[in-house]
Amino acid sequence: SKKPVRVAVTGAAGQIGYALLFRIASGEMLGKDQPVILQLLEVPADGPQKALKGVMMELEDCAFPLLAGMEAHSNPMTAFKDADYALLVGSRPRGPGMERAELLAVNGAIFIEQGKALNAVASRNVKVLVVGNPANTNAYIAMKSAPDLPRQNFTAMLRLDHNRALSQIAAKTGKPVAEIEKMIVWGNHSPTMYADYRFATIQGQSVAQMINDQDWNANVFLPTVGKRGAAIIEARGLSSAASAANAAIDHMRDWALGTNGKWVTMGIPSNGLYGIPKDVMFGFPVTCANGEYKVVEGLAIDAFSQERINITLAELLSEQDGVKHLL
Ligand code: NAI
Repeated sequence: SKKPVRVAVTGAAGQIGYALLFRIASGEMLGKDQPVILQLLEVPADGPQKALKGVMMELEDCAFPLLAGMEAHSNPMTAFKDADYALLVGSRPRGPGMERAELLAVNGAIFIEQGKALNAVASRNVKVLVVGNPANTNAYIAMKSAPDLPRQNFTAMLRLDHNRALSQIAAKTGKPVAEIEKMIVWGNHSPTMYADYRFATIQGQSVAQMINDQDWNANVFLPTVGKRGAAIIEARGLSSAASAANAAIDHMRDWALGTNGKWVTMGIPSNGLYGIPKDVMFGFPVTCANGEYKVVEGLAIDAFSQERINITLAELLSEQDGVKHLL
């Protein structure tokens, strides 16, 4: 049987943590033959640490055959020790009346510390997924704070946007979601993201031709996907958690186990493709194989798409600019 791998999860006592840990421990993320050791990080305060103990009691009570060990931590230097995977979920979301500069500064401090800790103690092959918002910029900060780790090991979660786009297209076309291929979400995990179905197919047929309605694309589809997070908060009184955890599982599983040629969206540091400046943490279409992702290259970018890509890129560059002084 396989040697256990170490999976660090931050924000482990939060809502996404609660929807995520049980699925990692059951083998949905890394495979039904891969034992895992969970290294769980929460802030040191008594409340979250106590809640984390409660979550761990429930994990025990599931008697998962693949759960080879679990640890509670309050310090990233121990939580990330030898981690093969790190899911950085905990962050400070924007509170009412919180200025953007304040949000970036608070999260800057968290992700600098965690990036440094990964740099110091994690496996040299650690695969990092940042879920905590602002996810792309937090991933960028962590990457910049970990100069001894390969930069491509740092990724941000765009998969929830990708999955939201898939289900909207399934609803519009009346086709099963599983038949949709070649969806893309470009850019930032924010309402500026550009969900692009120009290359998408259903059983080999062009989705764009099937829908053939640019007005729906610009005025219904993109706003629906872009504002879906706000719509969930409005309906549920809480932000998306189960769907976010599901997207995190999809992202890590595909990265670790491969996509068999299927396109998925990952937020990754740009190599300069599609005119995105190097290192910008940007949603790109990728395929995964052998534990590595590869950007789908050579796609034509039309005027409408370029305009949307420019908007989401400008937002990311301004976020980067807002944290420059911290790095
Ligand atoms: P939550 O507030 O329920 O849980 C967050 C947990 O993180 C709390 O238990 C908190 O104590 C912990 N935490 C805060 N700072 C930490 C630190 N420095 N180290 C370790 N733990 C820390 O929030 P929820 O709903 O679980 O969401 C977590 C994050 O995910 C939020 O930033 C949210 O905006 C983001 N999110 C991102 C999505 C994406 O698609 N990228 C989708 C949905 C949510």
